[in-house]
Amino acid sequence: CGIVGYIGKRDVAPLLLEGLQRLEYRGYDSAGVVINSPKSGALKMVKAKGRVRDLEARVPKRFTGTTGIAHTRWATHGAPSDVNSHPHLDPENKVAVVHNGIVDNAAELRVKLEAEGVVFASETDTEVITHLIARSQADSLEEKVREALKVIEGTYGIAVMHADFADRIVVARNGSPVVLGIGEKEMFVASDVAALIAHTRQVVTLEDGEMATLKADDFRTYTTSGTLTNPTPETVEWEAASYDMGGHDTYMHKEMSEQADAVDRVLRGRIDDRFSTVHLGGLNLDAREARGVRRIKILGCGTSYHAGLIGAGLIEELARIPADAEPASEFRYRNPVVDPDTLYIAVSQSGETYDVLAAVQELKRKGARVLGVVNVVGSAIAREADGGTYVHAGPEVCVVSTKCFTNTVVAFALLALHLGRIRDLSVADGKRIIEGLRKLPGQISEILAMEPEIEKLAKEYAGAQSMMFIGRVRGYPVALEASLKLKEISYIHAEAYPASELKHGPLALIEPALPTVAIVPDDDLLEKNRAALEEIKARSGRILAVAHREQEKADHTIVVPKNEDELDPILMGIPLQLFAYHTALAMGRDIDKPRNLAKSVTVE
Ligand code: G6P
Repeated sequence: CGIVGYIGKRDVAPLLLEGLQRLEYRGYDSAGVVINSPKSGALKMVKAKGRVRDLEARVPKRFTGTTGIAHTRWATHGAPSDVNSHPHLDPENKVAVVHNGIVDNAAELRVKLEAEGVVFASETDTEVITHLIARSQADSLEEKVREALKVIEGTYGIAVMHADFADRIVVARNGSPVVLGIGEKEMFVASDVAALIAHTRQVVTLEDGEMATLKADDFRTYTTSGTLTNPTPETVEWEAASYDMGGHDTYMHKEMSEQADAVDRVLRGRIDDRFSTVHLGGLNLDAREARGVRRIKILGCGTSYHAGLIGAGLIEELARIPADAEPASEFRYRNPVVDPDTLYIAVSQSGETYDVLAAVQELKRKGARVLGVVNVVGSAIAREADGGTYVHAGPEVCVVSTKCFTNTVVAFALLALHLGRIRDLSVADGKRIIEGLRKLPGQISEILAMEPEIEKLAKEYAGAQSMMFIGRVRGYPVALEASLKLKEISYIHAEAYPASELKHGPLALIEPALPTVAIVPDDDLLEKNRAALEEIKARSGRILAVAHREQEKADHTIVVPKNEDELDPILMGIPLQLFAYHTALAMGRDIDKPRNLAKSVTVE
């Protein structure tokens, strides 16, 4: 979900609507805005199921005020509807709350409040917070909020307005991001900088357990127990223009097309030709410590988990350290054995995915060393980790990740090379990998130039009800990610399997109506992969291969440029991003905002 708030002198409604547009990728089930009347302080609210544009259509002409909070929702408790949209007001229209996160004891508190005579308007967990604040007898808004927060369990980023305290917005954070934007005689608050940077570059990121009071010309931060924290505002570097569509029809298209430049950025300044290695400044891991690492465990969710799988492969190949990747959510709930000689790596585009953050916190509590491979600078996971590397993909807005995936995998290649050169990777191999890395941006551009051809293929396969994706060893995570992309944006069912596992079950599905996309690199497993194609062809299955040369058994082959064997997976997924994109486009899907999803999932 996304939160934005403003207090100052300007007309607030247009500002908040624009902020919501910028945050819409965080959730788009419903949206709402509340502002106060400059004279009376009374709260005025509009909400709507659906997109921010649906909300905009409902905002009346004279909806003026200079203070307000707004929200765009990704539903957890209660279906998307007008009434379940945030903000949530108390029956007297005094208190308005917008909330990201989940109140875990909401059901219990609801029963208690209902027994005291409170009538709930919605099914949401958030409304509990509103009633608690409204019923508090404390003298200040800060104290009312504090009392409410004492009672609730769970995660929150909240912003609160009160008709009797019209000169301020009170915000609090526990597990869901809250960023303050510091302006000239105006203050902003948002769940991420995307909503702020058109107005100010000066930001303060709240820590868990911190609260803040925003007034037009002043702000104060303090802990929930009231101690002032006095943080120094930081300057955000991302350009407001990076959040625009830049002439493309969708963010996804824009972001795919930026991949050559993005990869160039993650490589820049890091290659050391003299020692055939790379420098990664923020790792906080010296050579002796790196040599002591016995295992590497990579944790992430969704696309970042897939990037971690490729990363684990690269680390094993180049650094010869046993490495694997696991979904962060699985890891944290199976009471994992935390081993002091294992290095843990958390991967996240946003740096705020709750399951990943919680895994990092659990690991740190147990004394483990955790690095972050993160895109958003200063995000929760980046700050929580002991060190790590930024992937420098730039802002990614489309819900599905493309350029950040590619950059993350390149960042892992750098890390693997770095660790390899500290351990047993030879100078010659170091040099070979560096040459390969340098070729990537040019080769990515070559693949992107194949878009018209891939578009044609996508149209041909767009009628399929289901698709199989196969790959082997280096190719398997590529298949996993390609199948995820296809299902996320086209809603075509897709499965990924190791090519070798076909004959142990999924071959039963093969028939002309179920196409297979096969990853067939020119490496030591080429012949094995070809055998899988034979098995499929013998059952009259259609095959689309992504390979380094035409595949005879395939109905179509997308031929991609060859790099070093270890680095091939970085390139082989890119044509399949375009394939998923054009399939979804041919089917008329809303590509940047696929149904039921959100870009940053800050709840469990
Ligand atoms: C959500 C998004 C996915 C993303 C995942 C992890 O589910 O829809 O596209 O891969 O979160 O996000 P992160 O920001 O941690 O990489």
